[in-house]
Amino acid sequence: MSARLVDVSPAPEPRAPVEGDFGWLRRRVDAVLDEFLEAQARHPVDACLPPLVDVVREFVRGGKRLRPLFCYCGWLAAGGAPEGGPVVKVGAALELFHTFALIHDDLMDSSRLRRGRPTVHRVLADRYSGKDSEAAARFGLNAAILVGDLCHAWSDELLCAAGERWRRRAEPVLHAMRTQVMAGQYLDLAGERTDDALDRSWRALRHKTAGYTVERPLQVGVMLADGGPEVLRLCTAYGRPLGEAFQLRDDLLGVFGSPEVTGKPVLDDLREGKPTVLMNLTWQRAGARQRAVIKELHGNRELDDAGAERLREIIRRTGADSAVTELIELKTAQALAALDAAPVPARARTAATQLADAVARRTR
Ligand code: IPE
Ligand code: IPE
Ligand code: MG
Ligand code: MG
Repeated sequence: MSARLVDVSPAPEPRAPVEGDFGWLRRRVDAVLDEFLEAQARHPVDACLPPLVDVVREFVRGGKRLRPLFCYCGWLAAGGAPEGGPVVKVGAALELFHTFALIHDDLMDSSRLRRGRPTVHRVLADRYSGKDSEAAARFGLNAAILVGDLCHAWSDELLCAAGERWRRRAEPVLHAMRTQVMAGQYLDLAGERTDDALDRSWRALRHKTAGYTVERPLQVGVMLADGGPEVLRLCTAYGRPLGEAFQLRDDLLGVFGSPEVTGKPVLDDLREGKPTVLMNLTWQRAGARQRAVIKELHGNRELDDAGAERLREIIRRTGADSAVTELIELKTAQALAALDAAPVPARARTAATQLADAVARRTR
């Protein structure tokens, strides 16, 4: 018998998402981002744009895609179908908002590395044609502000592309989310040590990260699935402490993490004098001599590895690092307890449990 030239066997059914495996969602979100950025490069308003689109394309590679995943989780909790429907496009819009936030964050924090590669302002500085390195750095910063703004605007465009019905449902949460992030980032700018420093660092952590990483994406998912007030309350009861645990872990990784794993530098927070919960707890617990060292080194632009090690030693001796680890465990347990008590579909429970675990134990 001759070989069949055309395979006439029926096409395989599109595979239903496997519970607990989010790879399919990450891939679909990535495909939407690829397609969107490709279209931006294909019809540019000016020839200067395609190279900037390439910078964004390169930068978006390698993120964990947590915001789309939490959005999916909220969708499932409110009874959305496992295929995710509008979550894919809206999740991609959340990811572009995150891209904007990271690009601006890296220039505010003078960070040189993100996702294991040079940060956007450094990539752009390298494109400066002149020889003056100061002018190149300034060009990089200014161009990165614009590329970040582009991502912010494109996030909105992508949301519109998801369709009017979904945009209208998601938008109120997204409006609140954006303002919250800016407020949090403002609170995070290093300033004078004030009496309310610890309280301020908690507010910064909640607004700059916890909201837009966990609670808000969950709420977006719930709104997309037309969920009611009960499931929205769960987004807060589960999402708020988990978002806090996420950033507390980030603070620890920012000082004790391994750059090969996190893809981020391990000196920035200390050199920039970031007013984190970790450092404020250290300060509260430190004796007079330890405080003198903190005053000298934390926020010192000349901080080197040896100085950073002295600060790490003080953090360890005061026990602030263990206190933060305990807080992470406590907050993750709070999130899981809220989930336990909630009447949500089994697949939402599985997804939320797995994500909580991933967030609490993350090393990158
Ligand atoms: C990093 O977020 C920025 C913070 C809000 C702390 P992620 O840890 O989610 O970053 P990517 O997207 O995986 O790189
Ligand atoms: C980032 O906070 C918050 C936003 C991107 C809005 P951090 O500055 O603490 O996060 P990393 O450590 O640079 O990722
Ligand atoms: Mg940063
Ligand atoms: Mg920052």
